Amino acid sequence: MTGHERFRFRSGDELRDKALALKLDLPYAQDIKSLFAPNPLGRLTVPNRLVIQPMEGADAGEDGAPGPLTFRRYKRYAAGGAGLIWFEAAAVVGGGRSNAHQLLISPSNLPTFKRLVSETRTAAEASGTPGPGPLLILQLTHTGRFAKRGGRPSPAAAQRNPFLDPLRKTDHEFPLITDAELDDLRTRFAEAAETAAEAGFDGVDLKACHGYLVGELLAARARTESRYGGPLENRARFLIETAAEIKRRRPDLVLAVRLGACDGLAVPYGFGGSAGEPETPDLAEAVHVVRELRARGLDLLNVTLGIPAFKPYLGRPFDRPPAGGAVPTEHPLAGVARLLNAAAGLQASFPDLPVVGTGFSWLRQYFPFVAAGAVGKKRITFAGLGRLAFAAPDFAADLRRMGALPPRKACVACSHCSELLRAGRPVGCVVRDRGVYRMT
Ligand SMILES: Cc1cc2nc3c(=O)[nH]c(=O)nc-3n(C[C@H](O)[C@H](O)[C@H](O)COP(=O)(O)O)c2cc1C
Repeated sequence: MTGHERFRFRSGDELRDKALALKLDLPYAQDIKSLFAPNPLGRLTVPNRLVIQPMEGADAGEDGAPGPLTFRRYKRYAAGGAGLIWFEAAAVVGGGRSNAHQLLISPSNLPTFKRLVSETRTAAEASGTPGPGPLLILQLTHTGRFAKRGGRPSPAAAQRNPFLDPLRKTDHEFPLITDAELDDLRTRFAEAAETAAEAGFDGVDLKACHGYLVGELLAARARTESRYGGPLENRARFLIETAAEIKRRRPDLVLAVRLGACDGLAVPYGFGGSAGEPETPDLAEAVHVVRELRARGLDLLNVTLGIPAFKPYLGRPFDRPPAGGAVPTEHPLAGVARLLNAAAGLQASFPDLPVVGTGFSWLRQYFPFVAAGAVGKKRITFAGLGRLAFAAPDFAADLRRMGALPPRKACVACSHCSELLRAGRPVGCVVRDRGVYRMT
């Protein structure tokens, strides 16, 4: 059986047998100590190799300031012992938000962000986790074609796209974002990075993935007569120039990029797919982009795949698709391996650049062994956990203490968190944290 299956492994051996049967190269190590080796990052040290991935919580106030549930989430992450907390996508301008409760990093919200950073650090200190506290990175974004204002779609798309345009019930003639607007937006990103630095974050991430604006620009071959479309040099211009501008203004900040190495769409509408197989990463363009970013001071790379609104299984292998979504023909383990291999491919091209791999949550209690295999073999530097962090924010502490993740705490990849986000409701785990989060 090679098609989609739900998770049903009763041992690590069964998982490895399945990987073998599917001809997947899945690293695996019984000994997970590689996950607890500190790793330098510029002048800082990350105390271990476990990263909380950015996960939108849709629990900010209408003004975009972190709300009570935002504080709860980050304090729980901090108490949970992960070495790096990658704060979720925060819009850099009001018009770039995904919903009315997405974070907005702005001078007026600075006091609340400051408090969020300070309370997160205090929670980490109080937890007694050994070593320096976790590194705190804020993801900066513009939601692009998926942006909403006042609950209504308000797209700022990079190009016309026959696959993505119909996903939003908008007039297909909505205007594309102009070059002048992009020139201005570069400054807004740089200002947001400065605000993040004032709030106390150690670093910022330029979100260039998942079909959002900066990611979509990388694919914008069909954007003609523009400094930001056509050849790769133009498509990567916004990301590269913005990264350079942030580094120029704040050389002290860790500069990170979350890169969608392959979005799953065919040329001329997609980025990073192989000829004739748009879901299979061809890393040539991604390597070029990372090389240019590295030359401008990139410190950290986080690798992801896909566009959640288009083919969610590429970025978040699941047992059950989000409501209304199709069950893919591929086995979720193939999705896990694709994510890991994309990160490993970029790590191999840039051995000195710390790379975060993703897509581990579907592996449930066996994730630590795959993550340790990948980190131990230097295929990636850090293992990033997304949905598991909603389910068990203290997974790192469990691994340190017991050497294992209790199965009853694992994420079951049910996609309910994705559904909550789509509905613009506070996002968390309705299975493991049901006192706080519910579907109804
Ligand atoms: C509800 C939800 C919100 C997410 N929000 C973000 C986000 O803000 N930024 C981002 O880069 N990725 C986001 N992601 C993707 C995750 O960071 C991660 O890449 C994905 O869930 C796969 O990792 P996992 O298998 O550990 O869950 C989100 C995913 C989910 C399910």
